[in-house]
Amino acid sequence: MAERPILVGIIGYGKIGTGTYKTLLDNQDSIDRQVGRPVRVKRLVDVDWSSPRPVPIDIPSEMKATDADEVLTDPEIAIVVECIGGTEPALDFVLKALRSGKSVVTSNKELIARHGKELFDAAAERSLDLMFEGSVGGGIPIVRPLKSCLAGNRISRIMGIVNGTTNFILTRMSQQHVEFQEALAEATRLGYAEPDPTNDVEGLDPAFKLAILASIAFETRVQVDSIYREGITGLGARDMEYAGQLGYAIKLLAIGTEIDEALELRVHPTLLPADHPLAAVSGPFNAIFVRGSSVGEVMFYGQGAGTMPTGSAVVGDIIDVARNIRSGATGRVACTCFEGKHILPIEELETRYYLRLRVADRPGVLAAIATVFGEEGVSLASVLQMDASGESAEIVWLTHTTKERQMQRSLKRISELPDVHEISGCIRAEAEE
Ligand code: HSE
Repeated sequence: MAERPILVGIIGYGKIGTGTYKTLLDNQDSIDRQVGRPVRVKRLVDVDWSSPRPVPIDIPSEMKATDADEVLTDPEIAIVVECIGGTEPALDFVLKALRSGKSVVTSNKELIARHGKELFDAAAERSLDLMFEGSVGGGIPIVRPLKSCLAGNRISRIMGIVNGTTNFILTRMSQQHVEFQEALAEATRLGYAEPDPTNDVEGLDPAFKLAILASIAFETRVQVDSIYREGITGLGARDMEYAGQLGYAIKLLAIGTEIDEALELRVHPTLLPADHPLAAVSGPFNAIFVRGSSVGEVMFYGQGAGTMPTGSAVVGDIIDVARNIRSGATGRVACTCFEGKHILPIEELETRYYLRLRVADRPGVLAAIATVFGEEGVSLASVLQMDASGESAEIVWLTHTTKERQMQRSLKRISELPDVHEISGCIRAEAEE
């Protein structure tokens, strides 16, 4: 191929940088053919070249750099790939790249979720591409399907398992009957959980991803802090067991729903009917379920993180940008956050609830609890006495659809009843009536 190559600079040579570079090298001929011009990495930047990489590759020394400016100020480099994660210094690097006329590919969910507007404005000013397929769902195609293949639909719902660490933990708790801490320790041992797993187990990582998905699906600006969020640290192995007995799986879901031009956005553990397609997504896998006005229901499934899967998504973006460069069409797919839709407070949510209580094993206790529910307008679907040993009993309730506000009021009153020892769990349920 005689044409001048399109040159790429990769900033950050950790897991994702390695997966990106390896994918580009492994499939170079095919990529060149698909783009119609050679696509070559000119420079790789990392502050530490001594630590081991997930996949060892011999890199010529002239390609290695430690200063991002060796990519950002190189007039030959047309595509900058940001693979460092976090917002600092990634934000500065990406802005500098765009202001220098370079298109950018990133898989940095926090950067896109928190600074999307600023970055898309900078890209639009110079008609450049800013692509971020790998920021949600790792190797699963979801950003481009929403922006292109499903763009003719009105999306009413997007619901996904978008965090592999927590899905691995919940799968272990459910299948091995272990508690959260033990399952987390195993996730850490196997390399699924980060050394500091807070963002995953407290649901911040899925909230970043939901902010990105919802902003595309519902064509609106979404602030990540407006997303209601609960993590998985309060779940017990018993919740998994009882949910299973009732015909449900518990998953950490990111859910976005449009209701009358307003949005319900939430990340929390959820009971899902065992026959729902998302209930079968186990281990570190991710899946995203979308409901569109014309397409109906579609689900995207695969590896939501990792060196090669995320590298696959990043390289898909590089190819797309390179095609746009070749045909002089960068900036073709601009930001689609046209609106500022109202985000409904969680108190407005209407759903079903699972509630696990430890109570005194005495006559009249069930009736007292049922009275509170009745007075607060919460309708009960089923009640099970799961375990009565010694002085206390464990009771599990499943409600019909009710307002969060009514449920919270009921919980407060129930917690004050003298025979209620503990509210051990309250989990929202996605369940047909
Ligand atoms: N920590 C994330 C997960 C992967 O466990 O899915 C990166 O987004």
